[in-house]
Amino acid sequence: MQNFEYCTPTRIVFGKGVIEKLPEVLGQYGKKVLLTYGGGSIQRIGLYQKVKELLQDFDITELSGIQPNPKYNPSVLEGVKLCKEHQIEVILSVGGGSVLDCSKAIAGCACFDGDPWDLITGKAPTLKALPIVDILTLAATGSEYDGGGVISRTETNDKLCYFSPLVFPKVSFLDPCYTFTVPKNQTAAGVADAMNHILEQYFCADTTLMNDCFCEAGLKSLMVNGKACLENPEDYQARAEMMFVCTLACNNIMSLGNSESGWPMHGIEHALSGYYDITHGVGLAIITPRWMKHILSPGTLPRFVKYGVNVFGIDPTLKPETIAEKAIEQTYAFFESMGIPMHLREVGIGPERIPEMARHVAENEGLEHAYAPLAEQDIAEILTASL
Ligand code: NZQ
Ligand code: ZN
Repeated sequence: MQNFEYCTPTRIVFGKGVIEKLPEVLGQYGKKVLLTYGGGSIQRIGLYQKVKELLQDFDITELSGIQPNPKYNPSVLEGVKLCKEHQIEVILSVGGGSVLDCSKAIAGCACFDGDPWDLITGKAPTLKALPIVDILTLAATGSEYDGGGVISRTETNDKLCYFSPLVFPKVSFLDPCYTFTVPKNQTAAGVADAMNHILEQYFCADTTLMNDCFCEAGLKSLMVNGKACLENPEDYQARAEMMFVCTLACNNIMSLGNSESGWPMHGIEHALSGYYDITHGVGLAIITPRWMKHILSPGTLPRFVKYGVNVFGIDPTLKPETIAEKAIEQTYAFFESMGIPMHLREVGIGPERIPEMARHVAENEGLEHAYAPLAEQDIAEILTASL
């Protein structure tokens, strides 16, 4: 078991109707609020109106139009400008992971006088950040319970993770009812994203029995509840369990004491959404079985056997190689059954830029240190197999 430190300073307020506590909670951080949101879903579900009604006594400035795969320019830069102009005291993020990630970058950059990109790339340290409160409307990323935000810079095809312990949300309001309207494709992508977060922690060299069981339970819950959410989008129990598993899946609590895996599938996917702006969870679903096939070796075989037997219930008396193959096939089949396109060509990605993307990933993601080390050639092969 490896040494570790753990601290998640975020207060979770979970369940039906919890938004009523918003004025009291937000008021602890200030009255001058930057309200951040995306392209209009919060208006369509009546959440925007509800927030405005609850916050009548607050001084609200708005940043709208934050896109999926949130952009440094204009969203982060505009948000920073608004914070400085209006002496914002607290950011209220209402939406999915993209809105929250963008808000985290704004929170740090608004308290920094140098080039904001230096802060996002980690060239300059984050010494201060505005507090963030969020109301989550999409279960997927776990951004509501971690200190990271993924930001895209269009002109360089960069998609990178800004991390600081100072940008963990102070409070996350999680009301599963606000996820009833998430469309099928985004629900499925959310399941794939959260499953992948767990797989990135499960496939590593040194694990514990507790962590393995925790991860296996999380994967099973996501598969069962994800399916139920697709069948009945207003199934409260399923939306609620899915939401909470997603929240736990990305803050490392499921792998405390495990060795680092290097998060290889995320490293590769960042190039796909960085170059082609595709939905993150879809990119991951496509990459996952191809990555699994690529890294399957005598050294990794026991992990695949454990995964196949404990998550998919594959007969443990079969040959280990057969269990591993079946586990990979069933991973693919599950994503396909959720309606996720399983080939890059289906999301508009051909072979043309694979060499360039493979180089970008090899140079920027450190995957030579991953659980199963990946060089540029390996990354290109995984991408090619995903076409
Ligand atoms: O923009 P609006 O109109 O709000 O619509 C959004 C968006 O089009 C819509 N939506 C959200 N809630 C809805 C809804 N539609 C109907 N009803 C609702 N209740 O869904 C679309 C996708 O939203 P987005 O926020 O982009 O999705 P998600 O939460 O999956 O976030 C994806 C982003 O998070 C990053 C990804 O890379 C990607 O940029 N990630 C962040 C992580 C983190 N901070 O820890 C970890 C992840 O690995 C991931 O990389
Ligand atoms: Zn992810």
